[in-house]
Amino acid sequence: MNNLETIVKGGTIATASDIFKADIGIRGGKIVAIAEALEGADEIIDATGRLVLPGGIDSHVHISQPSGEGIVMADDFDSATRSAAFGGNTTLMPFCFQEKGQSLREALAWYHCLAEGKCHVDVSFHLIVSDPTPQVLGQELPALAEEGYTSFKMFMTYDDLKLTDREILETMSAAKVSGARAMIHAENDDAIAFLRDQAELAGDIAPKFHASTRPVPVEREATHRAISLAEIAGVPLVVVHVSNREAMEEIARARARGLKIYGETCPQYLVLTAEDLDIPHGAKNVCSPPPRDQASQVACWEGIEQGIFSVFSSDHCPFRYEDTAGKKHPGGEKSFRWIPNGIPGVETRLPILFSEGVGKGRIDLRRFVELTATNHARLYGLYPQKGTIAIGSDADIVLWDPDMEMTITQDILHHGSDYTPYEGFRVTGWPVLTMVRGRTVVAGGRMPSADPVGMHIARSKPAA
Ligand code: URP
Ligand code: ZN
Ligand code: ZN
Ligand code: ZN
Repeated sequence: MNNLETIVKGGTIATASDIFKADIGIRGGKIVAIAEALEGADEIIDATGRLVLPGGIDSHVHISQPSGEGIVMADDFDSATRSAAFGGNTTLMPFCFQEKGQSLREALAWYHCLAEGKCHVDVSFHLIVSDPTPQVLGQELPALAEEGYTSFKMFMTYDDLKLTDREILETMSAAKVSGARAMIHAENDDAIAFLRDQAELAGDIAPKFHASTRPVPVEREATHRAISLAEIAGVPLVVVHVSNREAMEEIARARARGLKIYGETCPQYLVLTAEDLDIPHGAKNVCSPPPRDQASQVACWEGIEQGIFSVFSSDHCPFRYEDTAGKKHPGGEKSFRWIPNGIPGVETRLPILFSEGVGKGRIDLRRFVELTATNHARLYGLYPQKGTIAIGSDADIVLWDPDMEMTITQDILHHGSDYTPYEGFRVTGWPVLTMVRGRTVVAGGRMPSADPVGMHIARSKPAA
């Protein structure tokens, strides 16, 4: 075949269903040919000895979101998408956060302004609904779903975000009417406040008390309630960042009853524990839900292996330790409650799952692709434009060296945080080339062009 712009030659392609050797022909940013031997292109990319994977889709990242006390997130759209590209991702789904009193359109206009012309990979916004007025639910959500904003997150905790059960039901109903995908952060806010106040009264203010004041029942109860509310409203639901067996079992039980409940877990629940908050500078590892214990890690792996979890995301939520915990915690006298919640991880998600999952025989390559790309596209209305290697799909492709040994350290990463929670973690397998719609954005550890090629992608309404 002639007139190809690029051929990716000699690699082993892996999708969620197949692993096979073939060349990929690309024209106009799309995959137009997959065959044993393709010839005739302006550019040949040698993929010999490499895995050829659909680019990672990370459907849970926070970029440039405001957080309490005026702390600025460590990544803007430039640095977050740069870091994502180096980590083998080609699409991010960041959150557009509606502040109370704000319309969703105002919030979107602001985030689009922040992202415009800055992105090195494609982006597609989820909405965060924090003020579900009749106007927001009755007019804005349905209209925005028609325009390709087809998912939103609800929170059961955080003062500036949390919704009551009634509001969750109303918001879920709006998801049903508009065909959008509902997501939820499931932790019981009153229980957290009760435990936090008790801890502070007892003088227990170190970062480790962030974890002990958000124990497993806080997440299990809220997960059960969220699923029940989804059942009552009659909508599918994605429960994000699940950290432990009991919450996971709520999801497994609901699925066994035929409910369309989907679970997400994240690297921090596979490789960190609450003990990582009980070290010097433990504030670096504060996130919610908190990492738990080794038994919870085992449980999350079971959920990954057995298909209870549909997606594996980073929940990248980067802060600079210097700006936040370091300053807010001089001598540790200020309580853990002021430590911003969230850790960076968009660049390390794929290597950690590949190395610990595929490399250690817990999952096969197809499941890796499903968990890191295909299912994100399916759940959120991007499939088959993205999330697979097929004729007609966007040429979002990652070449992966399965044998490359790397030690994760802050100085090899490209995010805006001044640390990584995974400092010193050794992995085998690393992305060596990232291509977004046919344009190589990272190769051999460099960005060949500083041009930000990423664009905003309007999504379809997800299939139930
Ligand atoms: O601690 C976390 N996960 N921060 C990010 C916000 C969220 O709840 O996802
Ligand atoms: Zn959350
Ligand atoms: Zn998050
Ligand atoms: Zn401190």
